[in-house]
Amino acid sequence: MTTTLALDVYGTLVDTNAITDTLRTHVGDRAPVMARTWRDKQLEYAFRRTLMGEFADFSVCIADALDYSLRAFSVTLTDAARTELLAAYQRLPAFLDADPGLDALQRAGYRAFAFSNGSREAVSKLLGDNGLRAYVEDIFSAEMAGAFKPSPRVYAAFAAHTGAQTDDIWLISSNPFDIIGARKLGWQAVWVRRLPNNGVYDPWGAEPTANVSTLTDLPRVLPPP
Ligand code: 2OP
Repeated sequence: MTTTLALDVYGTLVDTNAITDTLRTHVGDRAPVMARTWRDKQLEYAFRRTLMGEFADFSVCIADALDYSLRAFSVTLTDAARTELLAAYQRLPAFLDADPGLDALQRAGYRAFAFSNGSREAVSKLLGDNGLRAYVEDIFSAEMAGAFKPSPRVYAAFAAHTGAQTDDIWLISSNPFDIIGARKLGWQAVWVRRLPNNGVYDPWGAEPTANVSTLTDLPRVLPPP
């Protein structure tokens, strides 16, 4: 038995809210609420694409969601400004606990994979830029299942790719929809409570196995490697 960790990326290892600073130069005080809309809409587009069988690179969901947000907030950007915002999304910074948290897991001997809706290429760049790539054995992208989380196909494809037994897989994610998707498949899951934006859990009756408020607490709640 080997505990295998599936580490969510956007919102768990890298901070999607950090785009607010770049947005602020374009939309001023509306930046925080627009950043939230942009994030919510990109996830909605991923869910809808999976339902409709219209899979696309997650970067398409991100770009379409930005364009929706610009319409919703009646903001007109130059092409250069739009390109700058999308480029900034590809350079999101890691949360401060990501490096020490992943380092602790690696030192303890856990087998860890990135597990993301983002493409292998985008996630590889995000982890590389933030000095986190060496902490994971491989990057599993939803593109390898042709569907986005929380489609059961994504979790099943991860298990097949890693060869891990369902009982031994632990998802680490701040996204409640991801935790519920994993729990429904029989995985264990740790909810990383990223306050304030992701501090509310969905009342679906599929609770996380454990909660942490920082990634450095993971060794405390995980079984031995
Ligand atoms: C990820 O898959 C759910 O966006 C989150 O990285």
